[in-house]
Amino acid sequence: MKKIATFDDWIDAFRAWQQDIGLRLPKYADYEFEAKYGDIRLAEIEYGDFRGQKKWERVTQIPQQQIRDALCNLIVYQGDTEFASVEQQRHLLETSPSDYDTDSVCRIMVEEMRHGWQMCHLLVSHFGETGKIEARKLLERRSWQNNRLLGSFNVDVDNWVDFFTYTEFVDRDGKFQLNMLSTSGFAPLARSMGPMLREEGFHLGTGHMGLQRIVKGGRVPPALLQKYVNKWLSTAYDLFGKDSSSSAEWFYVWGLKGRYDEAKHTQEPDKAHLNELSREMYREEAVKLLASISKLLPEGEAPLTAPDMKFHRSIGEFAGGTYSVTGEKLSPEEYESHIERVLPNESEKAFVRDLMKETGWIAPRTDVTVS
Ligand SMILES: [Fe+2]
Ligand SMILES: [Fe+2]
Repeated sequence: MKKIATFDDWIDAFRAWQQDIGLRLPKYADYEFEAKYGDIRLAEIEYGDFRGQKKWERVTQIPQQQIRDALCNLIVYQGDTEFASVEQQRHLLETSPSDYDTDSVCRIMVEEMRHGWQMCHLLVSHFGETGKIEARKLLERRSWQNNRLLGSFNVDVDNWVDFFTYTEFVDRDGKFQLNMLSTSGFAPLARSMGPMLREEGFHLGTGHMGLQRIVKGGRVPPALLQKYVNKWLSTAYDLFGKDSSSSAEWFYVWGLKGRYDEAKHTQEPDKAHLNELSREMYREEAVKLLASISKLLPEGEAPLTAPDMKFHRSIGEFAGGTYSVTGEKLSPEEYESHIERVLPNESEKAFVRDLMKETGWIAPRTDVTVS
């Protein structure tokens, strides 16, 4: 890929990436990508060592190189997830259950690309040579080559059951991350978040209603749907980062990234456990959503549940541990057979793949209400 000197060069690289991943979104051929900057809640830095000082408009106003590097990193990680999700979802159009779903998935992919565009606009406009290199690298990694920066974004989204579970839970991690960045001391980053969060709302709604429609359709056994929930929620827990994270602490101390709903907190945080706090808040939200979906299950079916925080983790204190979905410690042998039973296995994946070729496996959008 050629060197990037201006944002126009980056746009050329973006078009080349779209070609390379084989993306064709007929309905959105004319979509105009643009960076959108909204309002910020406060003009002053909201927490940490610089609280009360004016938010930084330019990277040169940031007092230390370490802080500038940390900020650049936050933007790179966010941007990486955006492009990765499009790579993960790019084959879904081939098996779309309805025109409505075709529209939704195209809109979601276009908006994810816009989010990636937004992050690259920040990198190229504010971070000099490093930013330009990083913005190019965001288009060079590939989800299917397993080199996207965060685990969930290297996992296959094989079918629409994956897709709806993913938009419900992985996009919801996105909502949490964007919310936490919306109070950033770097004003252009904070301003990027309002428009992104509004678009993200549609993705989450699509996921939540999609899962309700799957339940109403009655063709995916609830026990199998539970396995998809186990698959995506456990990896989404990882997205909140390590336990006792010193980087999360520094992000806070430097005023770069707040708690979820920072403005609603009345007390100073336990800075050594910020990731645990957001993960916990996220899980609580997931539990509520699963309860609302479960109301649509036939009489006598076990409600859908959120796996224990220790289950199937790749990051943090429980990484690589052999815990069950309900959090019991298992022997390595027990764990191996447990995994076969609680995550979608090969024959179940084949079943879902075949189901996608049928019609009517999912209830129409009009059969569910937004809740
Ligand atoms: Fe996004
Ligand atoms: Fe999204």
